[in-house]
Amino acid sequence: MDFKIGCIPGDGIGPEIVREARKVLDAVGERFSHRFVYTEIDMGGCSIDKYGIPLTDEAIKKSLESDAVLMGSVGGNTATSPWYKLPPEKRPEAGLLGIRKALKLFANLRPSFLFPELKAACPLREQVAEAGFDFIMVRELTGGLYFGERYTKVIDGKETAVDTLIYNEDEIRRVSKKAFEIAEKRRKKVTLVDKANVLDSSRLWRKITAQTAAEYPDIELDYMLVDNAAMQIVKDPAQFDVVLTENMFGDILSDEAAQITGSIGMLPSASLNETKFGLYEPSGGSAPDIAGLNIANPIATVLSAAMMLKYSFDLSEESAAVEEAVKAVMAEGIRTGDIMSEGCRKVSTSEMGDYIAGKVKEGKC
Ligand code: IPM
Ligand code: MG
Repeated sequence: MDFKIGCIPGDGIGPEIVREARKVLDAVGERFSHRFVYTEIDMGGCSIDKYGIPLTDEAIKKSLESDAVLMGSVGGNTATSPWYKLPPEKRPEAGLLGIRKALKLFANLRPSFLFPELKAACPLREQVAEAGFDFIMVRELTGGLYFGERYTKVIDGKETAVDTLIYNEDEIRRVSKKAFEIAEKRRKKVTLVDKANVLDSSRLWRKITAQTAAEYPDIELDYMLVDNAAMQIVKDPAQFDVVLTENMFGDILSDEAAQITGSIGMLPSASLNETKFGLYEPSGGSAPDIAGLNIANPIATVLSAAMMLKYSFDLSEESAAVEEAVKAVMAEGIRTGDIMSEGCRKVSTSEMGDYIAGKVKEGKC
């Protein structure tokens, strides 16, 4: 089959890691007789340099014309890059928020699992690492504090800043349904993380999520306050299966969930809308300090492409082949610098892509 993929290489290490993910996708195409056709899309800092804004209408149009979008990363060094001298709405990150909104990508899936080969890199206690963990965070992505009204003005003679945390029932319902659908294919447990002891918005999340739960009687729903969740993720991550939460809590907790796996360079993510369309990107950032050095870990982007095969293209076998290829390369002790350990072989970004693509083509996985 033919699939149209919009490619947003972006900034920093973005172009290098997207290049490797494409290499792996092409290997999938070769082995399973699919054709992936790529359209390059500018977004983030590189779009600012070319057009003065981080996200153009053209970029949105090209994304919408694709079956799915594969993204590297956007943004630069916030202390030194001239992009951060621009007003907030013209910075690279505004492009990312803008494209999420424009493409209605309300559900952000961020898996957190420990590769057995990387147990040594897990910063948690040995028993916790030994037990392992495998959960997925479903973060609401187009509402809440990041999209509510905000302003700074003088009120009662004092400079005052206001951000608004706002959710309506439909926004909560659609993302909670996604979480339950995902739980159906996993260990059938959803944990709603909120701050219902303080916030009205959290109380609405509980009410609507309970209504969704009634439609999925085989799935267990429990509730956890966000401060406790921050603690439980490091204390006993194995207790979680699907963690459902609002935008800001998900932003914060998903970084914590990524860190406990040892390297953020391993974790993919998917942002989905109501249809099969999605934007797929690594959980990590643009790492401007190592950009262009061919040393970044492309695995998170490769696994994001695997998520794209599964969620947007319904190619589960192909997706599994990519995941198995990554595992096989890990098992052979091939590592980029960020996950390097004694006795392993250190390779570059492009070599890692070659190894994974090679395994996919071999067809043994
Ligand atoms: C993320 C990032 C973004 C977010 C920033 C760059 C706007 O932190 O994808 O988690 O907060 O959503
Ligand atoms: Mg974040």
